[in-house]
Amino acid sequence: MAEPLLEVENLTTQFHTDEGTVSAVDGISYTVDPGEIVGIVGESGSGKSVSVRSVVRLIDSPGRIEGGHVYWKGTDILRMDADELRSLRGDEIAMVFQDPREALDPAQTVGAQIIEAVRAHRDVTKREGRDRAIELLTEVGIANPSEAISQYPHEYSGGMAQRALIAMALASEPDLLIADEPTTGLDVTIQAQLLDLLRELQQRRDMAIVMISHDLGVVSELCETLIVMYAGRIAEQGAIEEVLASPKHPYTRLFFESVPRVDNPDALEPIAGSPPNLASPPSGCRFRDRCPEAKPLCAHDRPPEVEFGNGHRAACFASTEEYRDSDAVPRPRPENDLETDAAATEVSE
Ligand SMILES: Nc1ncnc2c1ncn2[C@@H]1O[C@H](COP(=O)(O)OP(=O)(O)OP(=O)(O)O)[C@@H](O)[C@H]1O
Ligand SMILES: [Mg+2]
Repeated sequence: MAEPLLEVENLTTQFHTDEGTVSAVDGISYTVDPGEIVGIVGESGSGKSVSVRSVVRLIDSPGRIEGGHVYWKGTDILRMDADELRSLRGDEIAMVFQDPREALDPAQTVGAQIIEAVRAHRDVTKREGRDRAIELLTEVGIANPSEAISQYPHEYSGGMAQRALIAMALASEPDLLIADEPTTGLDVTIQAQLLDLLRELQQRRDMAIVMISHDLGVVSELCETLIVMYAGRIAEQGAIEEVLASPKHPYTRLFFESVPRVDNPDALEPIAGSPPNLASPPSGCRFRDRCPEAKPLCAHDRPPEVEFGNGHRAACFASTEEYRDSDAVPRPRPENDLETDAAATEVSE
């Protein structure tokens, strides 16, 4: 099998705030193959944005990447020097973040910004850069590119600005596009057009995409692989049709019931309770307080990732033998006896 394009291994990012250490991303691992489209979903605050920003090291103080590896074609991004990082971001990985207007410079025409992106990547004249920028605007479906190129961001609609940002991202012909909620705030028609565009670009350029969305409909339309995050960790991941058809993590099941789906548009059942404060997350499984299937053992160790074949994995005790055994032998445990209990759980593995 071909080497993965991106290999995220045990990535951990924290924010060191006055209120304490916020465990925003806690040991997540996944891979992205060339041309693969991966969707990341999860409730607000589950660490989706921080996780992808960590991949390209766009974490500002008080945030810090505390551990793990992010291999890009085999080289660890977390250990790249400033030059390597700059060329990686300019050339190979492109990013489209939430809120296009924030990402565009209001004082420059959109065209100037795209031309700059083109020229940062290719050794071309201004004129050639301009031609390429018009091509890119056409490619992202902007109707009158030779006019649009000399307009300022405030003259663009939200949908156009989002397209312009994608054009800018594509200027470097990246191998991977990271898009954080690229369709949020756009109306449904524009949203559908953007998804078509992304799909088409992925096919034409064999570009991999990691897309964050809280909209499961958007993700299931576009993505091949699904990553479900909860409280800074990956609860479940796998081929999207397998995860949708047969979710293994109780959180995934409840999350699916809580969001609209094509096959289930009305039956919205909010998940009881709320996500934990990541400055003091619960021990063991971070979902246990809200989980209808939690048992005492879920409070102790971090749940192992259980593999269900074909890369489908869920981090939940419920699929382990320990969990089944713990039914037969209920083990009441005192609050202050974590060490002993952890050891006991390991033995039974
Ligand atoms: N600058 C910061 N300082 C402190 N905590 C932060 C900071 N940025 C993010 N966090 C925390 O990190 C956690 C993950 O945030 P993140 O933005 O990744 O969530 P998200 O899944 O992208 O949510 P949304 O769907 O709302 O965009 C949250 O608990 C958030 O409060
Ligand atoms: Mg976010």
